[in-house]
Amino acid sequence: MRNKVTVVGSGNVGATGAHWIAAKELADVVLIDILDGVPQGKSLDLLEAMPIEKKDSHVLGTNDYADTANSDIVVITAGVPRKPGMSRDDLLNTNHKIMSDVVSKVVKHSPHCILIIVSNPLDAMAQAAYKLSGFPRERVIGMAGVLDSSRFRTFIADELKVSVENVTAFVLGGHGDTMVPLARYSTVAGIPITELMDAATIERLVQRTRDGGAEIVKYLKTGSAYYAPSAAFTEMVEAILKDKKKILPCAAYLNGEYGIKGLFVGVPCKLGAKGIEQILEIKLTSDEQAALQKSAGAVKELVAVIGV
Ligand code: LAC
Repeated sequence: MRNKVTVVGSGNVGATGAHWIAAKELADVVLIDILDGVPQGKSLDLLEAMPIEKKDSHVLGTNDYADTANSDIVVITAGVPRKPGMSRDDLLNTNHKIMSDVVSKVVKHSPHCILIIVSNPLDAMAQAAYKLSGFPRERVIGMAGVLDSSRFRTFIADELKVSVENVTAFVLGGHGDTMVPLARYSTVAGIPITELMDAATIERLVQRTRDGGAEIVKYLKTGSAYYAPSAAFTEMVEAILKDKKKILPCAAYLNGEYGIKGLFVGVPCKLGAKGIEQILEIKLTSDEQAALQKSAGAVKELVAVIGV
């Protein structure tokens, strides 16, 4: 039985994600957009690369949600990206409108799918999709922690001149300026980075991680990052389709975990065939707990604006 993954939005994030998923032969991919021709053209181009890659993933581009029917996973990347000087929060109202339209169509054709939300502002969009879909919280997951921790891992590996394979990192909280990179739980070959770097160096890498998205926007000028964001949701897709029970930082709807209720915030989640199969509650220091609460507060303000 072949898996089916729909990617909504054929911009850089969506199309690059379709590329990763097809190239890894994780599933057949449907790329959908309201733009006529773009998903069709990109999908056909990608499909024509499969003989070279020796992969039998099918890729279809479409404007018709009927083609997305019975997807196992639907990744929503639709929305406008930020421009230099904008924060993710500036996208709130525009992307909420797009999300409302997309989610109703997705749910109609794939009522049993797992939703992975990628559009910004991430946590608020995940909350909007959760409320609009009526899905249980296990099946609505926000992508952000995997991206933010991959950025942190990149900077740690570069600083210490070690393989990225040796570096694990954890970033909690919302996908925004208040995100909470956890140095204590970030390691190199199992050694906490607090043993390997001084506090000032760690703080510099933490700040670069918080600003990681903006650093790319500043270079690109007309859009935001897409290689790492799409690689990040592809890792989540793989964990779910292969039922790997992989623990990844994701935005999840909290029901009292970490003292937070009724809000999407980034926390460690176990991803498997059912979606979020467990939320892991780790002990935080009072400083870390305060930082997480502050981050949750920032998400709360956004969801209040759009009333979800
Ligand atoms: C980033 C945007 C996509 O962090 O949120 O690059």
